[in-house]
Amino acid sequence: MLDAAKTDETLLEVNNIEVIYNHVILVLKGVSLNVKKGGITALLGGNGAGKTTTLKAISNLLHSERGEVTKGSIIYKGERVQDLDPATLVKRGVIQVMEGRHCFEHLTVEENLLTGAYTRKASKGEIDADLQMVYDYFPRLKERRKSQAGYTSGGEQQMVAIGRALMSRPDTVLLDEPSMGLAPQLVEQIFEIVKSVNEKEGVSFLLAEQNTNVALKYAHFGYILENGRVVMDGPASELRENPDVKEFYLGVSDEGRKSFRDVRSYRRRKRWLA
Ligand SMILES: Nc1ncnc2c1ncn2[C@@H]1O[C@H](COP(=O)(O)OP(=O)(O)O)[C@@H](O)[C@H]1O
Ligand SMILES: [Mg+2]
Repeated sequence: MLDAAKTDETLLEVNNIEVIYNHVILVLKGVSLNVKKGGITALLGGNGAGKTTTLKAISNLLHSERGEVTKGSIIYKGERVQDLDPATLVKRGVIQVMEGRHCFEHLTVEENLLTGAYTRKASKGEIDADLQMVYDYFPRLKERRKSQAGYTSGGEQQMVAIGRALMSRPDTVLLDEPSMGLAPQLVEQIFEIVKSVNEKEGVSFLLAEQNTNVALKYAHFGYILENGRVVMDGPASELRENPDVKEFYLGVSDEGRKSFRDVRSYRRRKRWLA
């Protein structure tokens, strides 16, 4: 679909990582994935599959959670980045938008956006231009720029969180569950914006989502994570057509709608693990 996504250059490489919390809880059991330059890569899976842990392992945010990468490697632009602190990684171009759209509730929308530029040595002119860029993508934020963030809607807060990340001028955004708790129409709106940032600014995305349907509509490539392991991967167009993905993640199949909570039938049918 996207020419940029067809370049084969790998920006981020996660090689067989293992993550342990509190020295004993093994959560990621050898996860490998690649993020292509200029693409949108989806990391899919149900609640507790390990999506957030994977993103935090990449952006080095596990320490505060008493988590640790105990095996494997993470390579960004050909360099090992495991030992960098999150702020250094932001300077290298990788930024995470946390699940639950964290923003500073007492600051205005615009002040929140400006905090995103803190790692850069940018002039006021450059920062103003970037703010304008964010407002071009999110006209809604421009209208709300003087509002206290805590009083804006869930959708607006998600926009603030993404816009704030864009203010660091990233090459790669790790976006954790942008659809969470938002109405379908708003989810589409946010994904449309992600798509145009990807196409026009060339920003690559690694997108963690439980909403498989919308993620596979916008992503170029996807990985499905279950219980700390990648159980399936492929171009988004192929995953969308895969009968198991349809049945257990998209909730549609030839036999009609089903829930992937139907665990017994799920285990029986889960051919990709056989
Ligand atoms: N700080 C933590 N300490 C211990 N276990 C954790 C911690 N954070 C997450 N987990 C566990 O790791 C597993 C994966 O969680 P997570 O990465 O948040 O999954 P997802 O984002 O796919 O919902 C879950 O079983 C969760 O309970
Ligand atoms: Mg999560």
